[in-house]
This record gives sequence, structure tokens and C-alpha cells, in this order.
Amino acid sequence: MSTSDKKPLPEDVVGTTGHSWDGIEELNNPLPRWWLWSFYACIAFAVIYAVLYPAVPLKSGATPGLLGHSTRAEVAREIERFQEANADLVARLIEVELDPEVIRADADLYNYAVQGGAAVFRTYCAQCHGSGAAGVQAAGYPSLLDDDWLWGGALEDIYTTVTHGIRNEDDPDARWSQMPAFGVDELLTNDEIAQVVQYVRKISGQEHDAALASDGEEVFLYNCASCHMDDGTGDRYQGAPNLTDAIWLYGGSVETLTETVYYARFGIMPSHRERLSEADRRAVATYVHQLGGGE
Ligand code: HEC
Ligand code: HEC
Repeated sequence: MSTSDKKPLPEDVVGTTGHSWDGIEELNNPLPRWWLWSFYACIAFAVIYAVLYPAVPLKSGATPGLLGHSTRAEVAREIERFQEANADLVARLIEVELDPEVIRADADLYNYAVQGGAAVFRTYCAQCHGSGAAGVQAAGYPSLLDDDWLWGGALEDIYTTVTHGIRNEDDPDARWSQMPAFGVDELLTNDEIAQVVQYVRKISGQEHDAALASDGEEVFLYNCASCHMDDGTGDRYQGAPNLTDAIWLYGGSVETLTETVYYARFGIMPSHRERLSEADRRAVATYVHQLGGGE
């Protein structure tokens, strides 16, 4: 390759660095001025930053920097600021009568309860009831959106459920009831279970074996009506579900119904008495209450 047909080499002006690869020489062009100044500015910035802000990693944390800046402290300050701003609302929420009309009459308070309650719900309830509160079908986590309530949908009922939970061991005031395990404990024969299952299919408006269902009615009245009521509509006092609607906690197929009657169920919800403040429990109850099913 010849270089003779190119323009005169700037080498005459700038010289070379003295580096050469396979006969190719590296010219010693000066760096662009803007680049060089940016470079110096970066160095200066880095030094000033390292002096003022946390920078050099040490064994436990970093050098604090002259300004004592800390994002953690900043967040803590922000939280404190919000708490101070809301202190009045929190105080009002704790004192107010647990009546949706009363809370709703105070627009600021209601807004605070619903927004705050939604945040509490996302943190403490969504893992079981779903982020949209629609529950987890077949797993025994009820939807909180509908007006089908096991234990009651008045604000005070929801508050009580949230505060003490259901069938848990750690809160003596937890809501409590227990359906007998009719198969395991041999309270009913397999035939009787098959009959009563068909009867439940019938009263819930599903396809069923008419002959078995007809025998199942008596089984139901003797063994189930004390909790689920004669007409199968359930009893909130005992958290016994309504069996006549199409809303199932565990499921309405023959297979699932047979399993429920044979083994029974024991849905557990934890107590939030110590996990959440009084204001947060009231807020989340208000949030759930206004989701659509509140009474
Ligand atoms: C570990 C899972 C779990 C968590 C966490 C949980 N729940 Fe529940 N919840 C349940 C179960 C299971 C039931 C149904 C129990 C039963 O069969 O009676 C239930 C029932 C309820 C009920 C009664 C519904 C009705 O029909 O009467 C309400 C209201 C409720 N939960 C609200 C909440 C709220 C609000 C939170 C958060 C503060 C929460 N739950 C947290 C599992 C949970
Ligand atoms: C001592 C009260 C009690 C008696 C008696 C009882 N149940 Fe239950 N039943 C309950 C309770 C409480 C639940 C809810 C259990 C839970 O949520 O963990 C339940 C749940 C059910 C469910 C689940 C409903 C769903 O939505 O998935 C079915 C089905 C059912 N019972 C049928 C029966 C039948 C049939 C009998 C009679 C053979 C019977 N129960 C007797 C209290 C009772």
C-alpha cells in the first residue's frame, strides 16, 4: 500500500506518539478542547462529590461525606412529615363511630381511610385475597368484592374479622366454628354423603341426580341445617356459607363437595390485632367495605 496519493500527512504538524503497529503510526493529535475540559470537570466533580457525599465504601457503610446526606434518613423524614400531616386524620379515624355514613360524611377522613386502607390491603391482605380482593377460588380465600358474606359485610363485621381473624390459634377472640368431618369421623356413610352432595347440587341450582337428592334432603336437615339452615342459605353467626348461591368458597362440583363433606374445611385467617394499628385496621375495613359488597 502506498500513501503517496493521499493528502500530506498531518504528521508534519502533530508528530507521532512513537507507537507503531505493522508500520501504521499513531498520530499525536491534541484532544478536542471541549472533551478535555469536560474530562477535567468530571475529575473535579468526583473529588468534590466524594468529599461532600457518602462515597468510599468501607467495612461497615461508606464514608459519610461532609453534608451527612442519607437517602434512608430522607425517607424517614418524608414518612414523618406525612405522619405529622395525617396525625389529625388518624386521631379522627380512631375516634369516629364505625358507621360508613358517619365516615363518609367527612370527605377528608373517608378519602384518607380508603386510600390508606388500599395501601394496607396491598401489603397485608393481597397475598391471600388477591390484589383486586377477588379472592382465590377453590383455595378457600373468599372474594371481598361480592355481597356474599360468611361472617358479615357491615363495616363493624369486617373490622372484627380483620382485627381478630378466623380460626387462628393466637387470638382468643378470633371468629370460630368448625364443620364436622362427616366421612373421616364416620358420622355419615358414603351413601349418605353421596345423597347429601346431590341435595346440595340441587339447592344450588346445578345438575343433580333427583333420586339421590331426594334422599339427601333428610340427611341435610338432620346433619347440616343446624349450621347451614333448613333452606341451606347459611348462618353468618357461625360463618357457615350459603349453599344455595353460585358462589363457592371451595367449589360446587360433585368431587369438591364430596371432599368438603368427607373431610370438612378449616379456613384460617390470621389476627391483625397486633400486626396493624387501630387506625390501619379501621382504614382497611373501610376500604373493603366500599369495594362493592359492603352492607
Ligand atoms: C393468610 C391468609 C389471609 C390473610 C393474610 C388475610 N385473610 Fe382474610 N380471610 C382468609 C380466609 C381463609 C378467610 C375465610 C375464612 C373462612 O372460611 O371463614 C378470610 C376471610 C376474610 C373476611 C370475611 C369474609 C366474609 O365473607 O365474611 C374478610 C372481611 C377478610 N378476610 C378480610 C381480610 C383483610 C382486610 C385482610 C388484610 C388485613 C385479610 N383478610 C388478610 C385468609 C386471609
Ligand atoms: C357445625 C356447623 C356445620 C355443620 C353441621 C355443617 N357445616 Fe358445612 N360448613 C360449616 C362452615 C363453618 C363452613 C366453612 C368452612 C370454612 O370456611 O373453612 C362450611 C362449609 C361447607 C361447604 C363449603 C361451601 C363452599 O362454598 O365451598 C359445604 C359444601 C358444606 N359446608 C356442606 C355441608 C353439608 C352437606 C353438611 C351436612 C352433611 C354440613 N356442611 C354441615 C359449618 C357446618
